[in-house]
Amino acid sequence: METGSDTSRTREQSKSTRQDSHAAGNTNASGSAGGRVILERLSNGVAVIRLGDVQERVVTFTVARMDGLKAALDSLKSNRPKGLVVIGPHEEMFTAGADIGMIHRVQDAPTGEGLARTGQLLFDQIAGLGCTTVAAISGPCVGGGCELALACDYRIITESKKSTIGLPETKLGIIPGFGGTQRLPRLVGVPKALDIILAGKTLKPKQALACGLVDKIVRYEQLETLAVDIASRKVTPKRVRPGIVDRILSSTKMGRAFVKKKAWPALRKQTKGFYPAPESAFGAVFHGLDRGLEEGLRNEARELGRMIVTPECKALVHVYYLSEAAKGLGKVASKDLNGLYSIVIGAGAMGAGVAAALARGECNVILKDRSEADLNRGWTQIQTEVARARSLSTTEKSFVLNRIERTLTDVPNMSTANFVIEAIVEELGVKQAVLRQVSEQISKDAIIATNTSSLSVSAIAAGIDNPQRVVGMHFFNPVSKMPLVEIVRGEQTGDRTIAIVAALTTRLGKFPIVVKDVPGFLVNRILFPYLNEAAHLIKDGYSVSAIDKAALQFGMPMGTVRLLDEVGLDIAAHVCDSMSNGYGERMRGPNYAKDLTNAGRKGKKSGGGFYDYTEGAEIPFAGLRDLLKITAPAKPGEDLVTVTDRLLYGMINEAILCLDEGVAGQPSVEAANQIDLGSIMGFGFPPFRGGILYYADSLGAKRIHDRLIELERNHGPRFHPCKGLALRMKTGRSLRDKI
Ligand code: NAI
Repeated sequence: METGSDTSRTREQSKSTRQDSHAAGNTNASGSAGGRVILERLSNGVAVIRLGDVQERVVTFTVARMDGLKAALDSLKSNRPKGLVVIGPHEEMFTAGADIGMIHRVQDAPTGEGLARTGQLLFDQIAGLGCTTVAAISGPCVGGGCELALACDYRIITESKKSTIGLPETKLGIIPGFGGTQRLPRLVGVPKALDIILAGKTLKPKQALACGLVDKIVRYEQLETLAVDIASRKVTPKRVRPGIVDRILSSTKMGRAFVKKKAWPALRKQTKGFYPAPESAFGAVFHGLDRGLEEGLRNEARELGRMIVTPECKALVHVYYLSEAAKGLGKVASKDLNGLYSIVIGAGAMGAGVAAALARGECNVILKDRSEADLNRGWTQIQTEVARARSLSTTEKSFVLNRIERTLTDVPNMSTANFVIEAIVEELGVKQAVLRQVSEQISKDAIIATNTSSLSVSAIAAGIDNPQRVVGMHFFNPVSKMPLVEIVRGEQTGDRTIAIVAALTTRLGKFPIVVKDVPGFLVNRILFPYLNEAAHLIKDGYSVSAIDKAALQFGMPMGTVRLLDEVGLDIAAHVCDSMSNGYGERMRGPNYAKDLTNAGRKGKKSGGGFYDYTEGAEIPFAGLRDLLKITAPAKPGEDLVTVTDRLLYGMINEAILCLDEGVAGQPSVEAANQIDLGSIMGFGFPPFRGGILYYADSLGAKRIHDRLIELERNHGPRFHPCKGLALRMKTGRSLRDKI
């Protein structure tokens, strides 16, 4: 087979990392471009399979790559090597697993099962090669990549930050289908394997070594040489084996029954019955251990076929694409972030959170407040957050803290700052004055961002020179946990500014969506009809428990009324006013948040709101009806269908309006995707439903339109279907298409 220029480059790289201890013999490349597998035979009899070309940033198992791997393994079968090393094309990549597009395209269970069998048989060929096999891992080794590594006798991994190993399949609504549910428990024991597979975890090298998933951590320069030495049996690494308890729990029927009994309720609690894949993987693990590897693999393939066609899998793959697209928004500007010197003004809950996020994103930060007490409180919040960050080592934690300087007065070298964000009080005049002053002290092209939650970004920008550099960067509370940032485009915000803050958002490990400067921006505008409807339902006599039950049964992470208490009723009262001012009748409702706040009940933070909070439990506030002067008779029983529809349909109607008004997305970026992502990351719309428009589309325009008409008749004009809905119903167009 041919040895083209790509292959030569790869060989050069491989030679340098092998430190020339084994001169290369012949090299064969198989698979087509983008799916290449390179087989090298060394003079000491060891074969090296290189997955991908050196210029491939991401290596996945496409059909072409699987064919290429098969061709390489077939040729080894007829001329068996002394040992085999499987390695990625470069330091930052082993294999990122199966091609997601391939998963997405499968429409029937037998095709999915067939795909899994192909992968399994391929990796069986490695396991049955009859020589020592070693996976030499640097960079991600996940999904199918990890399953390939599991089929090898040994796994060694580099200490690089980019090196990870694990099985994230359940996050995509499928199960590991190339042998992962069978080989992992046999290697690391059932408890640890369940921990990894059910949650879709990927481990860092040290975590992987601790549980025996890998056998050694090495420097990249040593990787290939050591792998070849192990494959040729010159070196035998010491293995970490599961502890005695884990071995008993894994290898005996009684032990497994014990694990099963304990783990199943915990799993159900996590999935709440909404996610079939972890439950399917759970079954597959035990089935294989009870009935043997061969039957276990067959069952695993059947289960993969069953899962790959579920609506949950399709929705989760959609969510994966959404998040990848969001990450790409700021790509063009990622170089502009080099040497970022940032200033955060306001060290309250939000400012402190943003400063910590910037420092964790390796940016130097000056945190400024006008009050010493507030600055100290903010600093304590940052220290606590960083101390709790499990993903950071002790050294990294001190680096993060060292990146933050605090000041009450002047900012050192202010003129060199290139990014300023304010998170001070929510008052237009104050924000305008502070930012105007800042704009005069920093360079003309430094970005000026506001974290306002309800004011107009264009109004804040008024009076600032070069307003194209002013942008809204709406973080959510708490910043450390909320993955979304709304990037608000004011009337004059420039494209460069948008691109830079999108890149910065990605650098902070969060997802950007670009939204228009309208009241509530995107997320709160869509969420508000849902929260407002809870108040209408209470007015109509429904109990807070019934409302919250309906929301939870739909898959929301928290009940609607509980969410109001969590946000804080003082804040919710303010949002009620600004949304009804902004949108009029359809966003008007009883402002119970204000009534409760006036009675000293501000929600969870004050110990009581719609609920009373005591010792970790919440009990509906017994005096609610009296305090809110509710006269409608209490609704007996639970008409949960009506409650759910009332909560959801107004929100869906608003999402379609936002799509049609261009509230989300920017030219060339699909707006519906941004709305779906905003709904999931911004307020927890269930990921297994794919986002609000994806879900609406699954119901269809007619069904939503007809139900809205019915709700409008029974409950008022706030449910009036928007024009775009009627139009899509008539034309049969998708609810995700812009019209
Ligand atoms: P906060 O009241 O906790 O903190 C505001 C801080 O700004 C205080 O420490 C105050 O001393 C300081 N400050 C006020 N004027 C200042 C000035 N001229 N110079 C320096 N420091 C000054 O407020 P929080 O909750 O952190 O909110 C800040 C901003 O973030 C507001 O615009 C708010 O609307 C927005 N926001 C708040 C969210 C929330 O849930 N709390 C969510 C998203 C945005």
